[in-house]
Amino acid sequence: MTNKKIRKAVFPVAGLGTRFLPATKAIPKEMLTVVDKPVIQYVVDEAREAGIEHFIFVTGRNKAVIEDHFDIQFELNATLRERGKTEPLERLAAMQPAAGTTSFTRQQEPLGLGHAVWCARELVGDEPFALLLPDMIMQSRKSCMAEMAELYEHTGGNVIALQECDPAEAHKYGIVGKGRDVRNGFEITKMVEKPKPGTAPSSLYINGRYILQPEIFKILATQERGAGNEIQLTDAMLTLAKSQPFHGVHYRGRTFDCGSPEGFIEANIAFGLWRPDMHAHVLSAIERLSTEVAPPQ
Ligand code: G1P
Repeated sequence: MTNKKIRKAVFPVAGLGTRFLPATKAIPKEMLTVVDKPVIQYVVDEAREAGIEHFIFVTGRNKAVIEDHFDIQFELNATLRERGKTEPLERLAAMQPAAGTTSFTRQQEPLGLGHAVWCARELVGDEPFALLLPDMIMQSRKSCMAEMAELYEHTGGNVIALQECDPAEAHKYGIVGKGRDVRNGFEITKMVEKPKPGTAPSSLYINGRYILQPEIFKILATQERGAGNEIQLTDAMLTLAKSQPFHGVHYRGRTFDCGSPEGFIEANIAFGLWRPDMHAHVLSAIERLSTEVAPPQ
């Protein structure tokens, strides 16, 4: 185990997006737009804010447009320059990863999150890495991954982010048990993926942000299938926790599950309200529409 700086982040973007059909028939769910940026951009920005330098995407079929999004669109830039459109040019430049700092590999079969992470092993190599699940986008002044990186600097080992869920929803997530407080976090005593109703050790759920040591890959290589008959990352983390520390950060910001239409709508409202140039418009639209619109009888 090392306490090396976290330079690389993995984004598993191979998911089919079945909860979002028909929108995701030809468009990856990660490319759906929240206000005016694709969902994946929010997640990459969060990683960058936490000091990540290299962005690794585990993609699948029909996901090539994600690679295009993180490339320079040479003709578009030339046209914008010719037309003197400096504002969009500056926005594009600000989100552009530097040359050579993105990598793409494919998860060839949908065998679960643990398998998707394992597919990144050659690109990550022998160093700790961040893992960000792109369905979940977050809103707070200080980003979730930045809070985790702060705890990691003190503890080393593995760090995961947690949030409170409705106990009735605990069976949908990875749930942890909370131990002794450490700095801005705490020791993790238990982990269980999708606990059966009534058996969860707490209502603290894993919200899709992780800092993991590379030893996880060796465990994932032989990890048996778990909940949902998939290779589960949480099961591999449980094995790793026998030899390495795991700490949790209780993230207090807002999280939106953009893999579901409801979460995605909430994200659009929240990020619209968050924008100084849009706040008043979005607020008045919500107020007006909430009195005017109801499902047709
Ligand atoms: C995955 C993880 C789970 C975590 C969740 C957060 O589950 O396995 O531990 O709580 O993401 O979204 P999935 O959503 O892939 O079922």
